[in-house]
Amino acid sequence: MRVVSSDPTKLAESVHVINDEATGVSGVIAIHSTALGPAAGGCRFWHYDSHAELVRDAMRLAQGMSYKNAMAGLPLGGGKAVLQKPTGEFDRATVFRVFADAVAKLDGLYITAEDVGTTVNDMLAVSEHTTFVAGLDAAPGMAGGDPSPWTALGVFESMRAAADAILERDLSHLTVAVQGTGSVGAALCRLLRAAGAELIVADVDEARAQRVAEALGAKVVNANEIHAVKADIFSPCALGAGLNETSIPQLQARLIVGAANNQLATPADGDAVRNRGIAYAPDYVVNAGGIINVSAEYLGETTEAVRERISQVPARLLAVFDRAQKDQIATNLVADQMAQELIAQGRR
Ligand code: NAI
Repeated sequence: MRVVSSDPTKLAESVHVINDEATGVSGVIAIHSTALGPAAGGCRFWHYDSHAELVRDAMRLAQGMSYKNAMAGLPLGGGKAVLQKPTGEFDRATVFRVFADAVAKLDGLYITAEDVGTTVNDMLAVSEHTTFVAGLDAAPGMAGGDPSPWTALGVFESMRAAADAILERDLSHLTVAVQGTGSVGAALCRLLRAAGAELIVADVDEARAQRVAEALGAKVVNANEIHAVKADIFSPCALGAGLNETSIPQLQARLIVGAANNQLATPADGDAVRNRGIAYAPDYVVNAGGIINVSAEYLGETTEAVRERISQVPARLLAVFDRAQKDQIATNLVADQMAQELIAQGRR
């Protein structure tokens, strides 16, 4: 493995290049920050047109993990591994053996887990070669396993607190429009329904939306319309960039709280949302339940410890809203500032 950069003033503390000539496996492990602890973040297995693009994505994602972990109050820094997915045939076992060796060589600087394109089985394979891996199966009472219900819980608790603070209403008096009824979206809908909220749901996979609607008595709309329906809260739980120059002018909700990563198409869209008088809960602040569960698994903690950490997420969100109001700036910028401050404190 080659280290490309070890200058902490750069976007990443270090970028470790994986280029195994014998097998052709290639990628990078980007370490954004270890100020608060070992750099934790998943391994993405995806095809990129160029190595430069792959490195840029790894560094951007590693920074995102640093910010998310810092705001979640975890004793972890941020990093991300990105492996180039070959276009032709490849041997999956070889890919993850080479990757595991690269993780092992970093000797605890970086802790990996699943991400887009990788599975629990891949991480089990990695765990045969290194202990610096999480996202495996959970033992009874211990943290681990599917992070989605924990992510949904953090989003739900955040939504409840934000509804109270911003809309001054209890969820039982509110309508929530949920975009995407996958693992997190569906779990969130169940929590919202139990709290008495009215639900409007949509998914590009219509059968999924129908299943949730039938089970919970929700209304289904077309996936192209969900952001624009009359609702108090909009909850993006599908893919990224759902808040963009087209969707933002059409929003009717006054509050946005959802699980999707990278909801804003650009940072400037945070200003566009704010200018419309809509309160936006920064995605990585409220969707941290999953990484909280994964890190607790790695640290050998119980599900109770996970619940306790997730219960602290709403207070952080309210602190973001308070500072955004006081400084008159967008909430996404405030969250970044707060994360940077926590990381800087960790460096001292
Ligand atoms: P998932 O793949 O189970 O569900 C996503 C759902 O969104 C699918 O049902 C898909 O058909 C639907 N969808 C895609 N594009 C859509 C569109 N334009 N309109 C409506 N529906 C659309 O994924 P999961 O795990 O539920 O994650 C949801 C989001 O939350 C993703 O952005 C993910 O990165 C993020 N997230 C998930 C975490 C987890 O613990 N699973 C943790 C943190 C973030």
